[in-house]
Amino acid sequence: MEDANTVHEFCLRVLDSGDLATKLLPPRDTVGNPLCDRTPGAPVVRESPARDAELSLSSGADRLPHPGQLSDPRARATCLARFAHHELMAVELFAWALLRWPDLPSELRQLWLINLAEEQRHCQLYLDRLAVHNSDLSKHTRSDYFWKQLPAIARSPHGPRAFLSAMGLTLEQANLDFTLLYRDGFREAGDEESARACQRVHDDEVAHVRRASEWLMRLSPDHEADPISAYEETVPFPLAASRAKGRRFSVASRRSAGLSEPFIEHVRTARSSQQLAGSSKRS
Ligand SMILES: [Fe+2]
Ligand SMILES: [Fe+2]
Repeated sequence: MEDANTVHEFCLRVLDSGDLATKLLPPRDTVGNPLCDRTPGAPVVRESPARDAELSLSSGADRLPHPGQLSDPRARATCLARFAHHELMAVELFAWALLRWPDLPSELRQLWLINLAEEQRHCQLYLDRLAVHNSDLSKHTRSDYFWKQLPAIARSPHGPRAFLSAMGLTLEQANLDFTLLYRDGFREAGDEESARACQRVHDDEVAHVRRASEWLMRLSPDHEADPISAYEETVPFPLAASRAKGRRFSVASRRSAGLSEPFIEHVRTARSSQQLAGSSKRS
């Protein structure tokens, strides 16, 4: 394993190492100091992450068990593995973005590195709970759902704004709902430790959503732009407001993340094209 003394080397190591332990090493140099980011180098684009055989990606995954099914330990293990793998992909995607856009303001790069380190901790929290269920990631399907969004982000004329809208304002915003829904499911099933893991992830994701929303506006050519148009203009298809939420919509989490009332309402009422097609057939 290569040492990493800079953010650039660290991100390359996350993406080019196939094993979980290396991907989860914190962003610190060999003596434990923060990594240097003074010369982030030229842009680097990775199309996919290195993954050892037991971590290989597949397209699609089985249906996620419903929160009401979590009294079954196998259903709990399936959910914990799914969530851990989402966090692992989030780690890789922040590394991808840091390599792709070396010239962004250092303040934003620092925040992305903080997010990345938090995603590593989220992944570990779920992996620890999965281990208590006598299981690990190798025994579960590992869908490439986050990585599947990357080509559209990479192609987007909106560059890092497309990443902020996709990652922060769609995938992470949706996670605000999923973490609370499954927190309650685990709690009702008597698995308080897993419930606490969901709560911890939720609380960190509130900050991730806030950072994405603030920086989407700060990087907008028109600083006074309306957040709804900034999001709609930059979010890469097929991601959309209809995918920025879960089955139970938490207005409070979004308010904590600083999202505006009109933006929250926009997401709350957003319907997918499938839902719209269904309703026009019925009407
Ligand atoms: Fe996370
Ligand atoms: Fe996050």
